[in-house]
Amino acid sequence: ANPSILILAGDGIGPEVMAEVKKIIGWFGDKRGIAFDVTEDLVGGSAYDVHGTPLTDETMAKAQAADAVLLGAVGGPKYDVLDFSVKPERGLLRLRKEMDLFSNLRPAQCFDALADFSSLKKEVVAGLDIMIVRELTSGVYFGEPRGIFPDNEGGRVGVNTQRYTTDEIRRVARSAFELARRRGNKVCSMEKANVMESGILWREEVQWVHDNEYPDVELSHMYADAGAMQLVRWPKQFDVIVTDNLFGDLLSDCAAMLTGSLGMLPSASLGAPTESGRPKALYEPVHGSAPDIAGQGKANPIACILSFAMALRYSFDLGEEASRVERAVEAVLADGARTADLMGPEGGVPVSTAGMGDLIVQALDAS
Ligand code: NAI
Ligand code: MG
Repeated sequence: ANPSILILAGDGIGPEVMAEVKKIIGWFGDKRGIAFDVTEDLVGGSAYDVHGTPLTDETMAKAQAADAVLLGAVGGPKYDVLDFSVKPERGLLRLRKEMDLFSNLRPAQCFDALADFSSLKKEVVAGLDIMIVRELTSGVYFGEPRGIFPDNEGGRVGVNTQRYTTDEIRRVARSAFELARRRGNKVCSMEKANVMESGILWREEVQWVHDNEYPDVELSHMYADAGAMQLVRWPKQFDVIVTDNLFGDLLSDCAAMLTGSLGMLPSASLGAPTESGRPKALYEPVHGSAPDIAGQGKANPIACILSFAMALRYSFDLGEEASRVERAVEAVLADGARTADLMGPEGGVPVSTAGMGDLIVQALDAS
């Protein structure tokens, strides 16, 4: 059977950018003989409109069964008034939770044509290609006890608990080492072992996984604050960075801005390997449903297209084909094609969402 993809385009610009991804998927079937069994379903507000829930049990089951899930974006002002239990984002949260997607991959990749977009000097970011692996299902955002409690002096105390088990650290470390083997074979683990017990355990367990299972991968450790500094000073020193939920939240947003527009940033969330050997996987652009530009043909489809490229590489072992897509994006940008979000002071050739997708397909044809 062909590998299967479940497409959940969602709301706002989600369906618009996903339409361009479908062109790329079609191209692989027609021109490269690489066919996928594609199913589509509803998530977020669009699912709520039809079913009264942002994710039905049927859709959840399809996501569990698919080799990869491709998601557009969810949410919009129309749904802001809804009760929290049926808000669009709850659909996404349920997917992440029930698929147990503990490893969040955020690449920071700089296309030369957009190096001027970075807030850093061109030579610092040109050709940059690093990956941040953030633990997504544990740590201080979930640890118990948590809450706001009365203290003994008649005031209040806000409590969160940073908590990591051996297994939680080892599984995300494995996911980082696996990635590194497909890339530059280098992992830098970041924590605060100087001041946090969870940081000491993190460092020991990552080292354990390295020594016992991935001795061939180069491993280094860095305190997360120093890591933030190094990320901005000379990001090209890194290949894969693995870190916890909280530090990963900060470091990945910081790394994202090394490269420019929100419309360019893909992501993947991976879980444990299934019987097929593939990990449970959900791929999505970092951006949201962008209600301010929805329905106007202005959305940049590249973040979603690059998310599909990540699926090719990490779910389907088609790294060469993933690079082909990335090179096609690079070529189109080098020719000056720009959706509105990428239009810098130096100008460019304005293109619509569909125009950008068509150009990328043409560049694939020429590849
Ligand atoms: P957003 O990412 O949707 O938009 C922020 C700004 O970036 C807007 O000005 C938008 O026009 C622009 N932008 C975003 N993606 C773009 C693209 N592909 N091309 C060109 N411009 C783009 O974040 P915002 O405005 O905070 O949230 C809007 C809605 O999306 C909310 O309902 C929010 O809850 C939801 N959201 C959903 C996410 C998801 O589905 N994973 C993530 C973030 C927000
Ligand atoms: Mg964040």
